[in-house]
Amino acid sequence: MNPRHLVTLTDLSGEEIRNLIRRAVELKQLKTVYEPLKNKVLGLVFEKSSTRTRVSFETAMIQFGGGSIFLSPRDTQLGRGEPVEDSARVLSRMVDCIMLRTFAHRTVEIFAEYSKVPVINGLTDRFHPCQVLADLQTYFEHRGDIAGKTVAWIGDGNNMCQTYIHAAQLLDFKLKIACPEGYDPEAELLSQAADRVELTRSPKEAAQDADLVVTDVWASMGQEQEQALRAEIFAGFQVDAQLMALAAPDALFMHCLPAHRGEEVSSEVLESPQSVVWEEAENRLHAQKALLELLLVQG
Ligand code: CP
Ligand code: NVA
Repeated sequence: MNPRHLVTLTDLSGEEIRNLIRRAVELKQLKTVYEPLKNKVLGLVFEKSSTRTRVSFETAMIQFGGGSIFLSPRDTQLGRGEPVEDSARVLSRMVDCIMLRTFAHRTVEIFAEYSKVPVINGLTDRFHPCQVLADLQTYFEHRGDIAGKTVAWIGDGNNMCQTYIHAAQLLDFKLKIACPEGYDPEAELLSQAADRVELTRSPKEAAQDADLVVTDVWASMGQEQEQALRAEIFAGFQVDAQLMALAAPDALFMHCLPAHRGEEVSSEVLESPQSVVWEEAENRLHAQKALLELLLVQG
């Protein structure tokens, strides 16, 4: 039987996401020892840096009674050109689940095609589904179901933005994206989600009456050399108190972190009562525990 993967958020249905969030909230409150993954091993392949993703997955596996192995291309044959197809076949004969953080999204797709065990996307250049699961959990905890709400995405049409497009379709919310020209999400994703997503060049227009305002760095991992140019182009796209004032009075602010204060978000907004970024980061642990349980226990 083919294993279940989380390559993009669309590998889950809206109902499964709602159930996963409910379960994540339960697991967050659980005070007793619960070890459904005893002796199970998670392989963690990181082509890029990470704090939250690595620590949340490693902690989840320890708390679930299993373990994890951190694999960096620098120290494995993956970094010396062993084909992804071969690595997937070998690793998946030894471990029970594999999470990958890669540059090319295709790498995770190939890995999933050749793996005998569930593969989880821990961020690619195109998508970051684990982060959006944690964001959704955070929204549900504070405000209830996100269906019918309005989310403003301010900044780069990047991997996070593109995952929000999937989330808007799966959970029926409106997504207003404000990007500078040339930094839009992929046209095909936008056209597939035309009934849920609006694109504007005006952060104010996007933020108006929004229930949730979200942003992310202007230069993602792998785009460091564009940092200075992007800082100029994105200058009018900072989420500051003035922009937040246009959103609904009870609007929340989220950022997947790491944040660059004074660039995509002002320090004032990041530290404001509307900002739920620390819980959002913590929920990586709980949402991913629910995900591991779904993929490895329920199958
Ligand atoms: N938000 C997020 O994925 O953080 P890390 O890069 O620290 O894993
Ligand atoms: N868009 C950012 C997210 C980091 C968690 C990046 O890809 O670097």
